[in-house]
Amino acid sequence: MIRSLYDILLDVSKSSMIDNGDLHAAGLLILTAAIHGLGINRAGVWLFTEDKQVICGKMLIDGDNCELDTSLCLARKDFPRYFNSLDSERAVVAHDALNDASTNEFRDSYLLPFGITSMLDAPIRHRGNMLGIICCEHQGEARVWTSEEVAFASALADTYGRAVSAAQRNDYEQQLKEINTQLEQKINERTNVLQDALRNLNHTQAKLIESEKLASLGRLVSGLAHEINTPLGIAVTSASHCANELKRVQQLYRDDELNEAEFAHFLAGIDDGLGLINSNLNRAATLVQNFKLSGAIHTANEEEQFELRACINLTLKSLQPLLKKNHIDCLLLPGDNIVINSYPGAIAQIITNLITNSIHHAFNNTADKKIRVQLTQTPEQVTIHYRDNGCGIADEIRPKIFEPFFTTARRTGGSGLGLSIVYNLVTQKLHGEITIDADQSQGASFHICIPELAVRH
Ligand SMILES: Nc1ncnc2c1ncn2[C@@H]1O[C@H](COP(=O)(O)OP(=O)(O)OP(=O)(O)O)[C@@H](O)[C@H]1O
Ligand SMILES: [Mg+2]
Repeated sequence: MIRSLYDILLDVSKSSMIDNGDLHAAGLLILTAAIHGLGINRAGVWLFTEDKQVICGKMLIDGDNCELDTSLCLARKDFPRYFNSLDSERAVVAHDALNDASTNEFRDSYLLPFGITSMLDAPIRHRGNMLGIICCEHQGEARVWTSEEVAFASALADTYGRAVSAAQRNDYEQQLKEINTQLEQKINERTNVLQDALRNLNHTQAKLIESEKLASLGRLVSGLAHEINTPLGIAVTSASHCANELKRVQQLYRDDELNEAEFAHFLAGIDDGLGLINSNLNRAATLVQNFKLSGAIHTANEEEQFELRACINLTLKSLQPLLKKNHIDCLLLPGDNIVINSYPGAIAQIITNLITNSIHHAFNNTADKKIRVQLTQTPEQVTIHYRDNGCGIADEIRPKIFEPFFTTARRTGGSGLGLSIVYNLVTQKLHGEITIDADQSQGASFHICIPELAVRH
């Protein structure tokens, strides 16, 4: 290759325009180099269609004119020999284009109108595929293309292939950027939707909790009202009965008709009435007291360090007369001492409520009445296992037994606060958990777990 062609080629190859992705600028540079190097006026880039049946002029420099996407297209069916030559994927070197077997097919339609006498087509390759050609057209006297010129044109065509790669890369990068932006946008949109949904959920949850709170408060208040109403009603009726009796006796006295028998009857009536008033007001007071306890608002004792077995044994001892009267064998099973930091009063109250429940509800049909309490310990928690061998707690009432005022024994004076107090003491005071065994066929059994925080080994 002669020196000047080599220099031109080097300049083109080193130019940043080839690799910066601007195919138009790269094409212009390459065609201008072809024109200068070969001393011609016309050079163009021609690209195949996908099916390689047609080749069209994509960029054409003719003297000072530069045309993009020319309307010039050649179809394989019209110029089969030319296309055959292109199929060989080698440069088409037509020194005498008007008479060359590969190019004379378009002698009248193309060569003569543009005064083209010699033609040199170098294949553009990209990733092993021939995309088209760089077409170098000589006008005037036909010329002989030298092998250096053919190599020069082929090298320019290869450089165009490099520029196509760069443009594609650019394109991909652009597409990638767009996809990224779209993705970010989508993520933002989705995040917003999710955040909205979460906000809604939180809102709905807060509303639900609020309405559930109100509903349970309503249940609580109406339960309490109902419970207190009964003894208060009896007390009020009794008081008005006493007042009526008093009026009646006063009237008899004023009319001087009060005899001894009448007066004795009156005194007995008043005595009964006052007794009723007294017991019912006491019951109402106890209910209020228990209700306060059930909210675990009131706990008489303070947190302290104590031995759990001793605390439970003491409680059992205080209940011994009651247990004895009901012929119940109640035992704390042997085990290691467990020192905990907690509320002994709460634990005594829990055990007492469980035992009074066993006494009142468990043993209707049990001959050999037993209550067993057992303690187990892990590094995380201490568990009090309580069980009796009574009738057990029926499946259908099990979900409700911790609700305040739920009782199956209203007629015999149950208010339904015992287990609700137990539940609140365990969960709120001891920060523990109370569970009931699903299988109650052997009797009622409860497990009260007190977490590690309260445990001192
Ligand atoms: N050991 C048990 N065996 C069988 N049923 C039980 C036992 N303990 C509780 N129950 C059932 O659970 C219900 C609720 O008990 P809870 O202690 O809350 O109320 P109560 O004992 O009926 O009334 P209160 O304790 O206010 O006097 C009882 O009415 C009873 O049906
Ligand atoms: Mg009870």
